[in-house]
Amino acid sequence: MKITLRLILSLIVVVVAVALLSAWYQVRQEKIKLYDEVKAQSALVAETLKEGARHSLEAADLPGLQKLADRLQNQRHLEGLAVYAEDGSLLAASSAIAPELAGREKQIAALLAAGREGEFLFASRRIFLYPAELPFGSSQKARAVLLTNVSHIDYELFRIWKRTLLRLLAQMILISLVTLLIVRWSLVDPIAQMADWMKKLRIGEEHGQTPPLRGDIFAPIAKEATTLAKNLQAARNAAQKEARLRQEGESLWTPERLKELIKIKMEGRPLFVVSNREPYMHLREGKEIKAIVPAGGLVTALDPILRAAGGTWIAHGSGDADFEVTDEHNRIKVPPEEPAYTLRRIALTKEEEDGYYYGFSNEGIWPLCHIAHIRPIFRKEDWERYYAVNKKFCDTVLEEIEGVKEPAILIQDYHFTLLPAMIKATRPDARVAVFWHIPWPNPETFGICPWQKELVMGLLGADLIGFQTQFYCNNFLDTVDRTIESRIDWEHFSVQKEGHITLVKPFPISVDFTQPDREARQLPEKPDQASVLKDLGIKAEKIAVGVDRIDYTKGMLERVKAVERFLEKYPDYVKKFTFIQIGAPSRTHIPQYHRFLAELHAEVDRINWRFKAKDWKAIVFLEKHHAHKEITKYYKIADTCLVTSLHDGMNLVAKEFVAASDDHRGVLVLSRFAGASRDLKDALIVNPYDIEQMADAIYYSLVMPKAEVEERMTRMRQEIHENNIYKWAANLTEELMKLRMDSFTGV
Ligand code: G6P
Repeated sequence: MKITLRLILSLIVVVVAVALLSAWYQVRQEKIKLYDEVKAQSALVAETLKEGARHSLEAADLPGLQKLADRLQNQRHLEGLAVYAEDGSLLAASSAIAPELAGREKQIAALLAAGREGEFLFASRRIFLYPAELPFGSSQKARAVLLTNVSHIDYELFRIWKRTLLRLLAQMILISLVTLLIVRWSLVDPIAQMADWMKKLRIGEEHGQTPPLRGDIFAPIAKEATTLAKNLQAARNAAQKEARLRQEGESLWTPERLKELIKIKMEGRPLFVVSNREPYMHLREGKEIKAIVPAGGLVTALDPILRAAGGTWIAHGSGDADFEVTDEHNRIKVPPEEPAYTLRRIALTKEEEDGYYYGFSNEGIWPLCHIAHIRPIFRKEDWERYYAVNKKFCDTVLEEIEGVKEPAILIQDYHFTLLPAMIKATRPDARVAVFWHIPWPNPETFGICPWQKELVMGLLGADLIGFQTQFYCNNFLDTVDRTIESRIDWEHFSVQKEGHITLVKPFPISVDFTQPDREARQLPEKPDQASVLKDLGIKAEKIAVGVDRIDYTKGMLERVKAVERFLEKYPDYVKKFTFIQIGAPSRTHIPQYHRFLAELHAEVDRINWRFKAKDWKAIVFLEKHHAHKEITKYYKIADTCLVTSLHDGMNLVAKEFVAASDDHRGVLVLSRFAGASRDLKDALIVNPYDIEQMADAIYYSLVMPKAEVEERMTRMRQEIHENNIYKWAANLTEELMKLRMDSFTGV
């Protein structure tokens, strides 16, 4: 039975019982009262009767007695009276009831003898008989009986019962209604709301912790439900966090995870990195020595790895105070603020630097590999210096890896094409990987190098060669195919030469996704466009930035021309849009770089002069080395970032800009000739030789709907978040460590 019905029935039973009991009591009292009235009236009549009756009886005046009896009939409820002699014979009776007395003499006589009141039914009337003595003479007495119709008492009592029952009926209806409403308002509705709340809580639609229960009776449930909701929320959060961590743990690479991987894969052996450019350069500034981080993608990418994994980084000590801070083995612990790995510096003479670095590496291989329409210059003396410096680095590497079984060595870039084979010749057990940060051209282009065979052979000394893209891997294998006798396995992308196998694979390099955020936190204040522009002494509404080493491959001339065309084509942006170019001086002793810098300055000056206006500049050229955190500031205030390399292995500025955009704003305009365009498909991809297209891309980047900007940026950030520098290092090291080592016999 439903609870409401049970409640209603219980209430009704109780109410009916109480009502009936009280009605019964009332009826009883009423009955007593009415009978008392009848008795009192009878007694009064009997009293008034006595005197008259005595006279008639003493005078044996029966007709007088009869008259008296008739006079007292039909008075209100009194129907009449009858007078009996002592022997029970009837002396007189009111004529109205006399006929009805006939045949009842015995019963009446018994009443009179006992002096009791009684009640008879006279033709459907209830008649109350009241006995009274009528003394006369000296000791004689007659008896009278007064007959009162008491049927009205039944009627009165019936009315009381009727009233009670009607009241009861109304009460029952009222109780049912009120119970129904109270149950509905106070129980059914709150319970239904509570059930709904619990359901939503269960399916995760409800996030509040206060149940919709009010009132005292629900207070204990509400209290428990609140605790339950809090616990459920906490458990759910914990589960989500755990799932996210598990998911991220599986897909996301962190410094800690890389450290663990390297520990496991390298079985505790240290990691060795070789590059020309060192991660920290010590420079003399007056009496002080300052450490700076040189510009360039290589350092940006590798420093976080060494910070995480530890090990030794062997590089050219090119700072003028570098050897003032190292120990007797030319070693120093870096980063200066938080030492985590060893930097082993190699000193080069001016001649070595000229021939190996400026000459063969940067006037020869650099323009050879970058299709930027700058002719490579190959000089025999440079080649000899290049060879000698590779040898010099080899000696240092051998010194560093001495005593380490199967050391893992990661060689960086085009400065060390000969180093892999040189190391392997002495230490065939070393696991050697080369990562080629710049593009690898097609065989025809590469073929113009007079020492192409030596370069290829030197590289093939490595067990693993990594390129930024599959395309460069293909170009490399094509070059090997055309240059030397070897067995190329196109299925597995490996080269076999005299028993030694070299695996060739793409490893697109990346950045430390979290670094810009850490750096932004170190800034004295949150970067904002207005204050940055104020510092630059200009006013503008929209900002584009470019961050580059000043290099002819970066497309900087084309970029400023595109800015000029943009202002020409969209004149509304004159005095509203400024392009800030951060340019770190680079390879300044190379005439080509000199000429390029001069041309760039001239172009910037020309354009600024053309659009000259008060408090505004079309282009701000900040030609100096900027620390990372300063660059982060510009990334964060930029509406657009222009990366327009004519040719680039990857270009980490593009990825850094995306990583810095934690508010998901900013549009990246990216050259299709930069390796990064393979990974960042949500950038506005441009051909840097097409000035018109670049001008339009700048315009579109500024008018792009906010939602689209955010969508594009979110997808690009996801890409870099997942494919960060730690993943790059993990993939490279894992690949290197899983290679089956052959016995190297030289290539
Ligand atoms: C490129 C090269 C790096 C080089 C960097 C900076 O990213 O791939 O090997 O370190 O430019 O150039 P720099 O000549 O100053 O080392």
